[in-house]
Amino acid sequence: MKRILTGIKPTGDIHVGNYFGAIKPIIDLWAKHPDSEIYLFIPSMHAFTTLHDPDRLRTNILNGMKMYLAMGADPDRFMIYDQSYIAWHAQLTRVLQCLTHMGFMERMHVYKDAVAKWTATDLSVGTFCYPILMAIDIIMYDATHVPVGKDQIQHVEFARDIAQKFNKMFGETFVVPELFVRKEVQTIIGTDGRKMSKSYNNVLSFLDDENTLLKKVKKIPTSMLGIDEPKNPDECNVYGITKLIITEEEDAMLRDKYLAGWLSFKRAKDYLYEKLVAFMSPIQSKFAALDDDYVRKLLTENAEKANIIAEKKVKDVYQKIGFTL
Ligand code: TYM
Repeated sequence: MKRILTGIKPTGDIHVGNYFGAIKPIIDLWAKHPDSEIYLFIPSMHAFTTLHDPDRLRTNILNGMKMYLAMGADPDRFMIYDQSYIAWHAQLTRVLQCLTHMGFMERMHVYKDAVAKWTATDLSVGTFCYPILMAIDIIMYDATHVPVGKDQIQHVEFARDIAQKFNKMFGETFVVPELFVRKEVQTIIGTDGRKMSKSYNNVLSFLDDENTLLKKVKKIPTSMLGIDEPKNPDECNVYGITKLIITEEEDAMLRDKYLAGWLSFKRAKDYLYEKLVAFMSPIQSKFAALDDDYVRKLLTENAEKANIIAEKKVKDVYQKIGFTL
């Protein structure tokens, strides 16, 4: 039985990159393997690494849950929960921190990026230990497959390493998870052509209204080629995003127009905007219709189920490492 698990940090936006890197793969996998179990969770303890505003964090968690539901996570079939409801994560963190060497964490790009960006006074120990928390999110629940974008590959590889290490030292305990990364969507570009990321301020967010989307699309940089000149779609940021949300036939026609010089960048942007609105608005309407109390109830019910699984795993670990229970 496959147990597929992923999560999106509740830092404020759920964007097109998150959707194609994590949500769509999980929904497609489920459609292909309807007998698999899907664990879709809110990594709120990860967001707390840098987000220390309680009201914003609470709102982001609720919005994250609603977005999962609006994007097609079926609450009867998916286990949708929030990590912060499960105190066992912290219990296992202590154990795995003691089995992880400093050098390993120093090589993690999340840490290297943070060191490049912040001074030692701004850099928290939580940032340093982030990959350990993430490994626990995965191996606590015996996840077999973890769909993520390219930026998370190193973290899932670490989850594999630490699971194998523990199993070797103390006996079979953790499932070693498989990475699930789709090459064609492993790095979705943002409006400036770099990886779509909140930290680059280049995201197309499902929380954006139509006006904001239009402004963002208009600002996408393009080359200086004139209206009638043939253009290479693969060098165009507008096409890079459009191709994700159109059908194969539409894609073939669009590529022909680019190559033949039948499309100005202005028209390419109008087309992207039209397709973006058509793609996002059904999700946005479902999101808006969801009730906060319904989501809170779901969070509490699923926390109970997740806690049972997590408690069992931590007790097994404690037994194996020699704690007296
Ligand atoms: P986060 O919140 O930064 O991103 C959530 C998911 O979206 C993917 N993603 C992208 N994929 C393609 N192109 C992009 N431009 C793009 N931007 C983001 C990410 O790769 C990720 O899959 N640490 C994780 C959250 C997490 C997690 C986990 C994920 C915590 N525990 C356990 C899986 C399993 C994070 O910050 O992702």
